[in-house]
Amino acid sequence: MTERRASRTAVTVCQARAVADGRIAPGRFADPTAMPLLRAEEQAEVHRVREGRPPKGMAERFPYEMVRGAADIIVPRTVAIDDAARAGAATQVVILGAGLDGRAWRLDVPGATFFEVDHPASQQEKRDRATNLTGAPPIYVPVDFAHDVLTDALEAAGHHADQPTTWIWEGVVPYLTRDEVAATVAAIAARSASGSRLIVNYQLPSWIGEVVRKIIGRVAGRQNPWAAEPWLSTWSVDEMSRLLALHGFVVRSDQDLLEITQDLGVRLGRRNSMRSGRVAVAER
Ligand SMILES: C[S@@+](CC[C@H](N)C(=O)[O-])C[C@H]1O[C@@H](n2cnc3c(N)ncnc32)[C@H](O)[C@@H]1O
Repeated sequence: MTERRASRTAVTVCQARAVADGRIAPGRFADPTAMPLLRAEEQAEVHRVREGRPPKGMAERFPYEMVRGAADIIVPRTVAIDDAARAGAATQVVILGAGLDGRAWRLDVPGATFFEVDHPASQQEKRDRATNLTGAPPIYVPVDFAHDVLTDALEAAGHHADQPTTWIWEGVVPYLTRDEVAATVAAIAARSASGSRLIVNYQLPSWIGEVVRKIIGRVAGRQNPWAAEPWLSTWSVDEMSRLLALHGFVVRSDQDLLEITQDLGVRLGRRNSMRSGRVAVAER
C-alpha cells in the first residue's frame, strides 16, 4: 500500500453536497449526512457559501469558489447515481472510492448490505468522522486500487460473488491510470453475478478542463486539491463502453451531467464541466 494522506478532493465534494442540501433541486437532491461528516472549519466554509459571503483575499476566495462550483456539479451526479442504485435489484451495494459519501447511511435499498472500499488513508479518516452519523455503518474494505487485489479484499470482507451487486464508482476514475481502471473493472466483473449493476462516473477528455485545472494550480498554490490528487485518466464514451463490454457489462444508459440537469428542471452553472462529466449504468 502507498503512503499518502486522506483524500482532500473527498472533503470538497462532501462540502459541495452540504452546500446543496435543501437548496438545489429540493425534492430530488438531499444529503443530510454531508454536514455531520465535515470538521468544524470545513462546515464554516459551507455556511459561508450557503450564505453567499465570499471572503476578500484571493487565497481565501479559492476554496470558497471550489466548493460553490462543485455544488452545481455534484447535484446531477448524485441524483443520477441514487436513482440507478435504488432501481438495482441487488442485496449488496459496494461503494468504490467512497470518500465521505454518506449513501451507506442515507440510501434506502431495502435489505442491502453496504460495503465501502477506499484507500486506507481516506478510509481511516471516514471511520473517525462517521462516528457523528447514526445508523449501521457499512463494512469497511481498505484497498489501494493501484496496489491491492480488490477481489481478495472483498472476499475476505464477506462479499458474495454469487449474489448480485450494485457497484457505485463516483468521482474516482479520473484519479486512476487507464491500467488501474481496467484492472478494477476486471475485478468488479469477477465478483458480479448475473443481475449486477455498475454505476460509473467518469470524465471525457476536455482541453478546456485541462487548461482550467492548470490555471487553478498556478493561482491556488498549496490550496490546490489536485496537487496531491492529479487526474490520471479520461475516457471517451466509446472507450468506456468497450472496456465495460470486454468484461461482460452491457451499457443501459450513459448521460452527461448537463442532460441529467435538464431532466431535473433546474438551471446550474459550470456548463463545460457538466458536459465532460458522465454517469454510465451497465448491467451484467
Ligand atoms: C473525489 S473523491 C470521491 C469520493 C466519493 N466517491 C464521492 O463522490 O464523494 C476520490 C476518492 O477516490 C479515492 N481514491 C483515489 N485513488 C485511489 C486509489 N488508488 N485506491 C483507492 N481509492 C482511491 C480517494 O481515497 C477518494 O476517496
